[in-house]
Amino acid sequence: MNYQILRALLFKMSPERAHAFTLKALSLSSALGFNGFVGQCPSEPFKTMGLDFPNRVGLAAGLDKDGDYIDALASLGFGFIEIGTVTPRAQAGNPQPRLFRLSEGNAIINRMGFNNKGIDHLIYNVQQAKFKGILGINIGKNAATPIEEACGDYLICLKKAYAHASYITINISSPNTSGLRNLQHGVFLEDLLGALKQEQKHLAQVQQKQVPLIVKVAPDLTEAEIVALADTFLRLDVEGVIATNTTIGREGVAFSKAGKEAGGLSGAPLTQKSTEVLKLFKRELKDKIPLIASGGIMTPEIALEKIQAGASLVQLYTGLIYQGPQLVQGCVRALNR
Ligand SMILES: Cc1cc2nc3c(=O)[nH]c(=O)nc-3n(C[C@H](O)[C@H](O)[C@H](O)COP(=O)(O)O)c2cc1C
Repeated sequence: MNYQILRALLFKMSPERAHAFTLKALSLSSALGFNGFVGQCPSEPFKTMGLDFPNRVGLAAGLDKDGDYIDALASLGFGFIEIGTVTPRAQAGNPQPRLFRLSEGNAIINRMGFNNKGIDHLIYNVQQAKFKGILGINIGKNAATPIEEACGDYLICLKKAYAHASYITINISSPNTSGLRNLQHGVFLEDLLGALKQEQKHLAQVQQKQVPLIVKVAPDLTEAEIVALADTFLRLDVEGVIATNTTIGREGVAFSKAGKEAGGLSGAPLTQKSTEVLKLFKRELKDKIPLIASGGIMTPEIALEKIQAGASLVQLYTGLIYQGPQLVQGCVRALNR
């Protein structure tokens, strides 16, 4: 089916309703073995962080926060799928409306606030899923947990997720949980990553399985902050970096009414800013820590630009909303060349 037609219908619904409807429809169609969107595309395997990726195009966190749709999303041909952000306990997130389309700008603003059903529900879903590919679990802290105690929340999630994940993403860059991004700096960062790396070492020994820890960073960092973060990542042996999450900046969306909404901006207005951050991390980390690009990948050409800027892998979110599932195969094809 032509996605532009479907999109016109979906965009008549509220963004959050359209999101839920699309995932349910995808789930039903994949359970029935029907896959009207995806053509066969040969993919080129890629090895990084000790993992074998069937292709370099992944699903970014936040689209399937609870792992309710793993098999349905896998049917779109992703090389890897990241679920979450999940927190120790279920929480409702921010009041609605909290998701806004900026259609003229191919962008989204969200202030979901880690709405999720908690880590136990997510792990149950992972155990039920048939998908045996690369699965990332993205972890965070509950809104009610003070920032000084955040480490405890991440440790709970790490311990529960470790046996079930191909990699674990430490999300310290969402703009929608008060104070979360402070974890990207100074003693908060050192303490958090130090504790998580220590627990990873312990779990690796006990479970005889090495699960990489990846840190997801914001696009709103200064150059000095990026230099400091990269130094910490190298010292503490972080295995991967996702650059980037959504931005609190509003460059390029001033024309839009929804552009004034609070939250994280994603999609086309984020592309360049996110690539600049990616390049700075590449300069600092060289080839010592692999980079995963997320942020404004709206076309296969942009996916290729992200690889040329230093990324090993790419992740899609807002591009899927505007371009549809064909974007996955388009990117796979572009990166095969
Ligand atoms: C509605 C929405 C919810 C998101 N939720 C999360 C989340 O829970 N955890 C996370 O790490 N990133 C989350 N993100 C950020 C995306 O994973 C991605 O990093 C960001 O949107 C930039 O990529 P894009 O421009 O391709 O969308 C969310 C993004 C959107 C649009």
